Amino acid sequence: MKYPYKKEFTSTLVEWYHNEKRDLPWRRTDDPYKIWVSEVMLQQTRVDTVKPYYNRFLEKYPTLESLAYAPQEELLKMWEGLGYYSRARNLQSGVREVVEKYNGQVPDNRHDISKLKGVGPYTAGAILSIAYNKPEHAVDGNVMRVLSRVLLIQEDIALPKTKKIFEEAVTGLIDQNDPGAFNQGLMDLGAQICTPTSPKCLLCPVREYCTAFNEGNPEELPVKSKKTKTKRVTFDVFVAKNSEGKYLLEKRPDQGLLASMWQFPMIEIAPESVQSTHEILQENYKLRIFQTSNELLMKFKHIFSHLTWEMNCYLIEVEIERELPDCAKLVTLEEIKELPMSVPMLKILNILK
Ligand code: ADE
Repeated sequence: MKYPYKKEFTSTLVEWYHNEKRDLPWRRTDDPYKIWVSEVMLQQTRVDTVKPYYNRFLEKYPTLESLAYAPQEELLKMWEGLGYYSRARNLQSGVREVVEKYNGQVPDNRHDISKLKGVGPYTAGAILSIAYNKPEHAVDGNVMRVLSRVLLIQEDIALPKTKKIFEEAVTGLIDQNDPGAFNQGLMDLGAQICTPTSPKCLLCPVREYCTAFNEGNPEELPVKSKKTKTKRVTFDVFVAKNSEGKYLLEKRPDQGLLASMWQFPMIEIAPESVQSTHEILQENYKLRIFQTSNELLMKFKHIFSHLTWEMNCYLIEVEIERELPDCAKLVTLEEIKELPMSVPMLKILNILK
């Protein structure tokens, strides 16, 4: 790497981190389990969103052992609203492996820790550097943005192979004595100063050592090709209430998007379908719909990373005439609160209260 400011950049970043670091709950511990939980929650989720979840989660599951065998529905409830629920499931599988195979000690080397479910190169590096003081890279999108500017790396960060370039760059720069501060310094710089748009270069502790700043083009980096448009799917969602005031809920399949979470029955509007969504609902659950208002309860969009759901919600009154399948049940509003529901369902629930 032809970069003349290696030493200065690294020592200035580490010193800045120690003076200016954000006071975050997971920075008050060196317990690798707690740091693991924080890093999993922080994937794709903002720091301010994570804080209350992190605190509640560790009150409920203070140790690896307490999480390892927690009931899945309870775990999903603890994760409710954070999104990307497979993270919670994978975390639990990884934690269980540590309890069963590693005698409750989170591995302290990349080879072993990377074998754990849900622990990718970023999470591995974050745990190793922060909890175990190992000089290991932890490269995410923020770190790529910062280093693309500092080192003028012009490779397309949307391409998976580009990550390796950044991992090697971190390996070349990382502070051998204080790798946790170095990695978290990059994270804080990316979050607070070296932002995607309008980076605050005048406040930046390392601007002297920043190639893009010196050349006048920090905002043009990183290079990132546009992803293709996300898919849209439209659903009719039925808030179906019986004469006892109970609501029909269904459980999603145990694989795939929002696996095992509960929802009001939702039926995709397929343009080529000859059946109406009401008819499909009726057939699926053998129910009698005796009052249908075609009035919308609400209509909204929910955007996942790769997919947009367009939701049209209807309130209907029903009687269930036969036994429900295992993946469905009738519950009161109080009981719904105990079940893990996705964010779009919580939006509907909010209207009902
Ligand atoms: N984002 C991901 N990991 C983080 C950490 N340890 N501190 C702050 N922001 C983060």
